[in-house]
Amino acid sequence: MPASESLGLPPDFVWGVSTASYQIEGAVTEGGRGPTSWDAFAHTPGRTVNGDTGDVACDHYHRYAEDIALMKELGVDAYRFSFAWSRIQPTGRGPVNAEGLTFYDRLVDALLAAGIEPSPTLFHWDTPLALEDEGGWVNPDISKRFADYANVLGEHFADRIPRWITVNEPVVLTTLGYGVGMHAPGKRLGFGSLAVAHNLLLAHGRGVAALRAAGAGQIGIANNHAPVWAASDHDEDQQAAALYNALANDLFADPLLLGRYPALLEPYLPDGAGDALAEIAAPIDWYGINHYNPTMVAAPSTDPTALPGSVDGQQLDSGLPFRMVEIEGYPRTDFGWPVVPSAFTDLLTGFRDRYGDALPPIYITENGCSDATGPDATGRVPDTRRVGYTRAYLEALAEAVAAGVDVRGYFHWSLLDNFEWAAGYSQRFGLVHTDFETQQRTPKDSYYWYQELIRSQS
Ligand code: BGC
Repeated sequence: MPASESLGLPPDFVWGVSTASYQIEGAVTEGGRGPTSWDAFAHTPGRTVNGDTGDVACDHYHRYAEDIALMKELGVDAYRFSFAWSRIQPTGRGPVNAEGLTFYDRLVDALLAAGIEPSPTLFHWDTPLALEDEGGWVNPDISKRFADYANVLGEHFADRIPRWITVNEPVVLTTLGYGVGMHAPGKRLGFGSLAVAHNLLLAHGRGVAALRAAGAGQIGIANNHAPVWAASDHDEDQQAAALYNALANDLFADPLLLGRYPALLEPYLPDGAGDALAEIAAPIDWYGINHYNPTMVAAPSTDPTALPGSVDGQQLDSGLPFRMVEIEGYPRTDFGWPVVPSAFTDLLTGFRDRYGDALPPIYITENGCSDATGPDATGRVPDTRRVGYTRAYLEALAEAVAAGVDVRGYFHWSLLDNFEWAAGYSQRFGLVHTDFETQQRTPKDSYYWYQELIRSQS
């Protein structure tokens, strides 16, 4: 598809880009910002590739005006960023840090002046360290802290922010952060981490209520979803895949949309979790899906010394009731993730089929690929694989829309190459190249392709 060919999406379809605070802001000790779980984790030797941290990242805290100019030139309708909770409340509770609000005031006002809709996430994994030290997302108290924080933001910004996202990918914080310890805070609770999932979902529900009470509207969530493929037709593999699917998909959508927890996971949830379902299922205006690639799962190996596979190159601990299997036969991104656009269509139509009328309009809040291509001798960044990936995934999205799925917008991950969590700066997801030595931004070929696409679709 050339960029100018119509995808057949609705005329008011929202085109956007996404980022997150710890991945781009830097300035971690400026403006009264309190430390977070990710500051502590990234500064612990051995936790990130090359010992990289978000101390400077893209220095967006100082360069936000340049980044907004890049977005204006790109032609996006909306920008998804995240508030750093510890800039607003340095210890996650109590008095508001005026300097933190001022930074986001400037950002929001500059976006509005550029004609770009601010679409913030309240929490994208950077837990205030003071709360983490009290147990973080294992501690049931945190959903109340989150509601207070949401209330502060709602009161301050409701009149200027047209679209809100409560939390980003609770599945990843639950499993990688508290289940297997690959992300901050580096805990290895195994299935004990389902208490984290519950507290995140409750924080979401209470956050929705707090935002609404403050006059905010158009509230959603950004949940990571992906089709789970069983490695074979054997019962053991089918059962392992069903359990994994309940954990990775249903656990985070069923409570919100159907007001219930998946039966398979009930034994692992904290006592009384069901009592909070009414709060968790607070009505949302839209549902955000982050999608990158499908997953393949098999039963654990019968060899007791075998490990259950790896995630992003990191071995999982033994003892899990499933094993991650590489998907063969498809191209891969530089992160090793399989490129399977048809799985995106299946995911979206599957969602519509599973949730029916309970599913509000969908926004794709993240999609993109790691492609390390940097500037060539002429300074151009020919990231043809990112163009190919994005084109194929947008065609897959358009297919789902043609099949009747109500998708209202697409936010590409990401505007800039940034701090890619445990992978540090080794994986580049940006439409704009970041030189982390000089902070020079260089739009890649994919940026110009996306610009042309946005122009031609409106
Ligand atoms: C996260 C982003 C991350 C991206 C690529 C998502 O899981 O929300 O923060 O950079 O995927 O790994």
